[in-house]
Amino acid sequence: MTDLAALIERFNVDDPAFIADPYPALGALREATPVFWNERSNQWVLTRFADVHETLRHRGLGRAYTHKYTHAELGHAEPDSRWADFHQHEAWSLLCLEPPDHTRLRRLVAKVFTPRAVAALRPDIEGYSEELLDRCAELGTFDLLADYAQPYSVAVICSMLGVPREDTQLLLDWSHAIVKMYELSTTDEVRAAANQAAAEYIAYTRDLIAAKRSNPDGLLVSELVQVEDEGDTLTEDEIVSTTMVLLEAGHEATVNTLGNGVRALMKHPAEWARLVEGGVDAKTAVEELLRWDAPLQLFERWVLEPGVEIAGRPMQVGDEVVMLFGSAERDPRRFDDPDRFDVGRGDTAHIGFGGGIHFCVGAPLARQELAVSLEGLVARFPNLSLADEPEYQPTFVIRGLKQLLLSTT
Ligand code: HEM
Repeated sequence: MTDLAALIERFNVDDPAFIADPYPALGALREATPVFWNERSNQWVLTRFADVHETLRHRGLGRAYTHKYTHAELGHAEPDSRWADFHQHEAWSLLCLEPPDHTRLRRLVAKVFTPRAVAALRPDIEGYSEELLDRCAELGTFDLLADYAQPYSVAVICSMLGVPREDTQLLLDWSHAIVKMYELSTTDEVRAAANQAAAEYIAYTRDLIAAKRSNPDGLLVSELVQVEDEGDTLTEDEIVSTTMVLLEAGHEATVNTLGNGVRALMKHPAEWARLVEGGVDAKTAVEELLRWDAPLQLFERWVLEPGVEIAGRPMQVGDEVVMLFGSAERDPRRFDDPDRFDVGRGDTAHIGFGGGIHFCVGAPLARQELAVSLEGLVARFPNLSLADEPEYQPTFVIRGLKQLLLSTT
């Protein structure tokens, strides 16, 4: 086996040691090659920042191909009909569309997520944070994920959408089940659970839409129902997918950024002290939390046009390309001393929120949610420490902890 083949072998998302700390293996691969073929998944894999940055913006690639080619044309089987509800739930998701449908839907959604609209939400967001931190203070030892980040982020997105608060646990359970479908390696049991969750979720969202139609409340789902943008209206299927992508995309990554980030802070007490002493503000630190232990480790693109070349490698139409965010975010060609966790780094041009037409529409909201949380934690619990050694979930694409037990004293 060549040295490179041995390094590729280490890139094994089913290996618990890799999941526990993927960065040494990712770093070795990145230094060995900018691109490699992964036989396990039949994909080209990009390891370096510049190539990932370019690929995100390259119009010869897309998140979807069905606007240009049939499945058969690219040599793929038709989507598995056993998971029809899952496919339906994402059919009109921004993440599954390319122009012109993407442009039309994105324009409508983006209106709600402008920095100004998001700034107006700050008092509500602070209110949710305060309420949950009060409870954490009472507990003394608490799980940052279950006791704070999950109910917090879901409350924020549900309040924007206009979803009743008593339904948030239902949505959380569906969202957790559905996103497992996006892992590189899944079992039929996991897929069936994701499909079942999608079916229930679709039925719920249709009822919600009907309720908003008869009782508009000015919140996002209601706005989408009513929207008339340059004469354009949204179909019910489009509203269902849009609502669901906002809930899914808006929830898991925010929770995991906070979990992974506070874990990093606890492991680097001098960096936590910089926040407590006021040398670095929460807003600045959030950027390093996103970069240093990426909550979303990879994204994929399809090659849609002939003549695409990435990292010096010619690609064929129909090839699938993986961008390793976690590796790119630690590329020494882009970041000084990239493995160093430095809350004062203040580099906002990382790729944590992507780039190009699919750039995270929720980035201003996510940044605000994270900054409010860090501010609250620092102000309330300056002596915060790990109450137990945290473990990562056994998934790679969505990188997050099982729990993060913290002690406030
Ligand atoms: C720390 C938290 C978050 C991270 C790290 C994150 C990251 C990302 C990334 C990397 C993409 C681009 C995917 C690609 O190019 O293939 C994306 C897209 C998206 N994100 Fe986020 N996100 C976060 C929070 C949110 C929030 C709070 C919302 C909404 C409430 C949201 C909604 C979306 C949507 C709708 C898209 C698709 C945009 C499009 O395709 O046009 N995200 N996100």
